[in-house]
Amino acid sequence: MARSSLVVAPSLLACDFSQVGEEVERAVAAGADWLHLDLMDGHFVPNLSFGFPIIASVSKRFPGLLLDTHLMVDNPQDYVERLAEFPVHQITVHWEACTHLHRVLGSIKERGIKAGVAFNPHSPIDGLQHVADLVDCVLVMTVNPGFGGQSFLHSQLPKVRQARAWADAQPHPVRVEVDGGVDDLTAPLCCEAGADTLVAGSYLFKGGGMDDRITRLRQGVE
Ligand code: DX5
Ligand code: ZN
Repeated sequence: MARSSLVVAPSLLACDFSQVGEEVERAVAAGADWLHLDLMDGHFVPNLSFGFPIIASVSKRFPGLLLDTHLMVDNPQDYVERLAEFPVHQITVHWEACTHLHRVLGSIKERGIKAGVAFNPHSPIDGLQHVADLVDCVLVMTVNPGFGGQSFLHSQLPKVRQARAWADAQPHPVRVEVDGGVDDLTAPLCCEAGADTLVAGSYLFKGGGMDDRITRLRQGVE
């Protein structure tokens, strides 16, 4: 399949939560393609973020915005039905959290939502072939999930390369997404390895001039 164009997805986790709506506005005005929403349950990862009320409000105020939900939770199948109501563009579940990954991906897909599979830094992606027809996106974690502002793990770049090769071998389009420590220095490395979807939290929300920063991320490939 031909390579998809680059998607930049600011991660709301790094925003100023005292003014969430304005922060989303800022991301949209700066040219964000998707908005990345990190759900945490304090079990799969040792942290909490936000839940359905925030997603509902964002979805209502920004109806055209593509919401990219990243479920860092145990039992992700329990969240699919609620997320489908908003609706969201993509639901990504963790490989490590799914005993019945095939069933979970199927329940996402049957609701007309894109399905992603995320891999922690220690997890190999070899098993993807067994659920291949249900996968729209492979998310390679470039930090240990649960917190923003961590350092990019260069050790994950070979996995990005492997994910790209796997994605290109599928008969349907599959995106390769990276999440964690993505900035103007690491984005070009990710894109060179084959990533076509960049999640960035701290780099985009915590510095000034988000439009300039998104442009700099895009320069990695364009
Ligand atoms: C981390 C989350 C990320 C996080 C990225 O577990 O999945 O989406 O917001 O934050 P930065 O870009 O600051 O590493
Ligand atoms: Zn994330």
